[in-house]
Amino acid sequence: MTETAFIHRFEPAGDAGSPPLLLLHGTGGDENDLLGLGQMISPGSALLSPRGRVLEHGMPRFFRRLAEGVFDEDDVRRRANELGDFVAEARQRYGLAAPIAVGFSNGANIAAALLLLQPDVLAGAILLRAMVPLSDPPKAALGGKPVLLLSGQADPIVPASNSARLAALLSDAGARVDHKVLPAGHQLSQADVTLSRDWISKADAKAA
Ligand code: MLT
Repeated sequence: MTETAFIHRFEPAGDAGSPPLLLLHGTGGDENDLLGLGQMISPGSALLSPRGRVLEHGMPRFFRRLAEGVFDEDDVRRRANELGDFVAEARQRYGLAAPIAVGFSNGANIAAALLLLQPDVLAGAILLRAMVPLSDPPKAALGGKPVLLLSGQADPIVPASNSARLAALLSDAGARVDHKVLPAGHQLSQADVTLSRDWISKADAKAA
């Protein structure tokens, strides 16, 4: 692969009919973190799991931030484009259809940026504890792509108004957004797993 390559794990599909998943970890995670989640929510899917290339005090992330919840938006744009290039290369190398992103926290935020900046890269997305990644995103055309946004009612990092704004932004861009607010904080709960699994097994999410 080219210099745009990310360190990553790839698990081939066990079931050719299941959509490939692009797994995007949270701050301080790595390419191993979400493999178990991916297997639980879509057994049989190919799993493509890159490690974020930005280090914050040694912790991998997908883009730089200036403070918690305050993003270096030039870096968001640059890194989302790099991730888009990586997905294109990985699709060729591994023979994959466009993946559904499954992102947690910082990984959900880069997935949201990717949807807005390069709408063709993803077939859809599960965004776990995501927030608005860009204050002035380009007008994206998401053409009915399915997006599941799961927020935590007591999330100390993502205010309710912010996740509602993200849902509106993605809907306005044409995505079919299913936004649920769970009785949870920033961490994932069993409900995230169950809802994600149910959502992804719907035929329309697979067909997107
Ligand atoms: C971010 O920086 O993307 C968000 O604040 C979530 C996090 O990583 O804590």
